[in-house]
Parts: sequence; structure tokens; C-alpha cells
Amino acid sequence: MSSHHKLLPITLNKKYITGAALAVVIVITTVLIAGSALGLFPAYLVQAKEMGKSEVFDDAQNMAWEGMQTFRYDTFGDEEFWGGALKLHQAIAGEANGGVGPGVSPQTALAVGLKVDVDALPESLKSDLKAGKVNLTDPATTIALLKLNAVVGVTGFFNKTEDMNMTRENFPSRMNRTTGMTLTSIGIQCALCHSTVDDSFAPGIGHRMDGWANRDLNVGDIIALAPNLKPIADLLGVNETTVRQVLHSWGPGKFDAELILDGKAFRPDNKSAATLIPPAFGLAGVNLHTWTGWGSVTHWNALVAILEMHGKGRFWDPRLNNSVQFPIAAKAGFWNVSVSNPDDDRFTPKLAVLQFYQLALVAPKPPKGSFNESAAKRGDDLFTGKAGCSRCHVEPKWTEPGWNAHKPSEIGIDSFQADRAPDKIYRTSPLGGLWTHQKGGFYHDGRFATLLDVVDHYDKFFGLNLTSTEKNDLVEYLKSLPD
Ligand code: HEC
Ligand code: HEC
Repeated sequence: MSSHHKLLPITLNKKYITGAALAVVIVITTVLIAGSALGLFPAYLVQAKEMGKSEVFDDAQNMAWEGMQTFRYDTFGDEEFWGGALKLHQAIAGEANGGVGPGVSPQTALAVGLKVDVDALPESLKSDLKAGKVNLTDPATTIALLKLNAVVGVTGFFNKTEDMNMTRENFPSRMNRTTGMTLTSIGIQCALCHSTVDDSFAPGIGHRMDGWANRDLNVGDIIALAPNLKPIADLLGVNETTVRQVLHSWGPGKFDAELILDGKAFRPDNKSAATLIPPAFGLAGVNLHTWTGWGSVTHWNALVAILEMHGKGRFWDPRLNNSVQFPIAAKAGFWNVSVSNPDDDRFTPKLAVLQFYQLALVAPKPPKGSFNESAAKRGDDLFTGKAGCSRCHVEPKWTEPGWNAHKPSEIGIDSFQADRAPDKIYRTSPLGGLWTHQKGGFYHDGRFATLLDVVDHYDKFFGLNLTSTEKNDLVEYLKSLPD
């Protein structure tokens, strides 16, 4: 197996981790000794140290680090599809830079919800940006940002690259700094849809926030830019114009992962069949994942990386070999995807660290003042009491320990999306960090615009007889999670 790509970050990482770990150990030991002498620490902390289990924690740190690199920067070889087959890079570069059409300026990129990682920008560029000296209407600037690996979830490939030692100082810019002039391909990462930035520098430009759903991102509009959509059209058995129409129907914050499995682009009411991008944080301790409970994190990660992103690797799910429920997938053989040489599998070797990183991402707490604390406290009592929500949303994961799945009729909605997944159920959504994804609405398709709409739905469906104050208290509680 070629381990070149894999070894670089770990090796450098170890150097940094050894130093950092040493410092941490010294501090912890001092604090523990002083603390336990004063009787301040529970015995288990002292015990863990005495048992010499530190290698477990070292391994955990290494896995989290490598998982973060994978989540942020690994394309799994999918540039052969996005650049190689669809020629998306040509539309981004534009005719003036060797591509086709007008190109994608930073202004356009930000308008379709792409985000810029401020930590990847050199100081000089930051001051030029602040001074308004950077042309944000020129696609050449987008190319420069891609060279810096500053566009979250998108990697540009250039005609020349050089290996760069990744140190703590230049982290998180990537190890292969591109030096060529011509954009030759483009690939995407998990971070495209499941990361955003904190807007600390400017709207759309800031520090990365991994695991947050990017509800500004218009995935369909971006894919529709590709000069060649024939591979998707052929797969779906339609023409390219139809594919473009479907892509433009998704709207911001949405993607239709099931389209390439069942070919269904619209619901019976003619609205788009796309679903909201969910967060990828707060998932540890949760059994079934995705809106319709396709499986575990590792199942879905493999499905997405291989079938949706078109990374290179092995994927196996015999449930897709069902020509009634998944006609497109069954015909295309998506249930059993291989690489001719197992050593060319770019995804499977990353699966463990990728899963580990996602499980390490906790749901972020809401900022102080973003909800009414006393109302939230009353809402908490209603949630577990009169409103009966905790029957399904069990604290503190707000989903059921066990098989967290329900028939559409149990929550009073139609079965369209549930029927597009093997078990025909809706998964009880974990509610931690709800405040981070209020844009785009709630439930799998955003059918409820606000949390009050969600509560109103339950009030009617379960006949809860909630007063308007009680409804408001529940909403404040939902906004407070995971406080
Ligand atoms: C193009 C946007 C996009 C990309 C890229 C993407 N995802 Fe997703 N992700 C989604 C959407 C949409 C869903 C919901 C799918 C569904 O329920 O049918 C989802 C669901 C998930 C879930 C389930 C979350 C939950 O609530 O249980 C996880 C975990 C996840 N993605 C991780 C990843 C990882 C890891 C990658 C990279 C290998 C990735 N995603 C790439 C859009 C994306
Ligand atoms: C019978 C089980 C059940 C009960 C009871 C229940 N829920 Fe849910 N809840 C679900 C399921 C399943 C979903 C996912 C729906 C979907 O994806 O379309 C969900 C989704 C949600 C969402 C949307 C999450 C998101 O990410 O969009 C919120 C908010 C919510 N529930 C709050 C509540 C509140 C408040 C109550 C009590 C009034 C409640 N739920 C009662 C099963 C339940």
C-alpha cells in the first residue's frame, strides 16, 4: 500500500504532539498531585494516571488529528469525477484563465455559500483584503484562494505541486502547496457541506467550524456550473437540461443524496426531493444516522465518499440491489463498488480516523443571551412532562438509546422521504446544537420554517393543548440545547 500521503501528517503530528503532550502531562501531574493532596479530585483521575493509560489518550489525539485532516482536506481521489469528468474546474477558472465561460469570482463563490478559511490566508493578503485592494470580482482571485487551500471543502489541483512540511505554524494549510499556474482539476471534501466559518474576518470568511451544516451552500447551483453533466444525465437516463433543472431546484443548504439511487427528483407535491444538510457534530452515542436512518456513521461515510463524492474505494450495501426501491443504484451496481487494485482504495484506510473525528465533534453550546433562560427552564419541564417530547428525544442525546427510528405515521408526516431508504422510517433527530442550523427550516426537508412551527405541529398532532406561553417556553428550551 502506498503510505506516502498517510505518513506525512502523522509523523509531523507526533513531533508536535510529543512536545505538547509532555507539557500537558507535567501540568496535569502537578495539578493532580496538588489537587489530590487537598482532596480536590475524584479518585478515578488519580487512578487513570497511575494505571499508565496515557498511550490510549495519545492514540486518541493522533486519530482525532488525522481524522480532522481527512474531514477537511481529503478528496479520496474524487477530482477524477469533479474535474476529470464534469470539468467543474474549467467553469471556475473561466475563459481568461484557460477554462470556459465567465469563471467564478470570489464574490460569486461567497454568494453560493462557499466559505473562506482565514487561517489559510497569509498576513499580506489579509491586510490587502482589509484595505479593499483585492479584486473580488476576478476569477483569478478565486484561483489564488484555491492555491492557498483557503476555500473550505474544495481543493484545486494545479499543473505543479511541491511537498511542504506541515508545521504547527503553517497549520492548517495543506501539505502540498501548489505552485503551478494552471488549474487542472478540482475535488471536494466532507467539509464542503459539513463545515462553515465564524465570519470573524468578513461575511463568509473566518475560522473553520467543523461539523456545522453549511446552510448557505447552494450545492445544486455549484454542480450545475459544470460544463459536462453527461455522466450524471446518463446515469439517471435523462438529458443534461433536465439534470440542470433538478440541480437548480434544490436551493441553499440542501442536497439530494438519494437522487442517484432512485432517480426521484421531486416529491408528489412537485417540490424538490432534496433534504437539508444536517450537522456532523453531536453524533457520539447516537445509533442510526441520516434523516431516514440509513445506518451508522461509518456506513454513511462510506456511501457518501464512494457513491456521492465519487472517491475511490470499496463500498458494499446489498440493500441497494433492489430494482424496485433503488432502480438507478441497482442498475449501476452501486451496492458493490470495488477498485481493481485494493491498494488504490483511497477511502477505507481513512474510515476509522474519519469516524473518530466526527464522534469527537460535540454539539456547540448556544451563546449567552441567545435564548431566554427562565423560559428554557420551564420548557425543559414541559419537554419531559406535558409535551411528552422526551419519549423519543431522550436527554442528553435527544434521540433514543437503542433503535432510534419511527414510522412516518408516528410523527404525523408523509412517507415520501422515508420510503427512499431501506427501513422506510424517520430517525429521531438528535437536537443538540439546533441553534446552529435554524436557517432552512426543520425536519428532513425544512418543511417547518421555525421551531414554533415544529411545536405547533406536535401540539396539533399529539393533541397536547399547549398554551402559547408553553409553546414559547418549549422553543426557548430547544434553542438552549445542549445547555
Ligand atoms: C454535497 C454535500 C455533502 C457532502 C460533500 C457530504 N455530506 Fe454528509 N450529508 C449531506 C446530506 C444532505 C446529508 C443527509 C442525507 C440524508 O439523510 O439522506 C448528510 C448526512 C451526513 C451524516 C449523518 C448525520 C446525522 O444527522 O446523523 C453524516 C455523519 C455525514 N453526512 C458525514 C459526512 C462525511 C464524513 C462526508 C465526507 C466523506 C460527507 N458527509 C460529505 C451532505 C453532504
Ligand atoms: C414519536 C417520537 C417523537 C416525539 C414524541 C417527538 N419527536 Fe421530535 N422528532 C421525531 C422524529 C422521528 C424527527 C425527525 C423528523 C424528520 O426528519 O422529518 C423529529 C424531529 C424533531 C425536530 C427537528 C430537528 C431538525 O434537525 O430539524 C425538532 C425540533 C423536534 N423533533 C422537537 C420535538 C419536540 C419539541 C417534541 C415534543 C413536543 C417532539 N419533538 C416529540 C420524533 C419525535
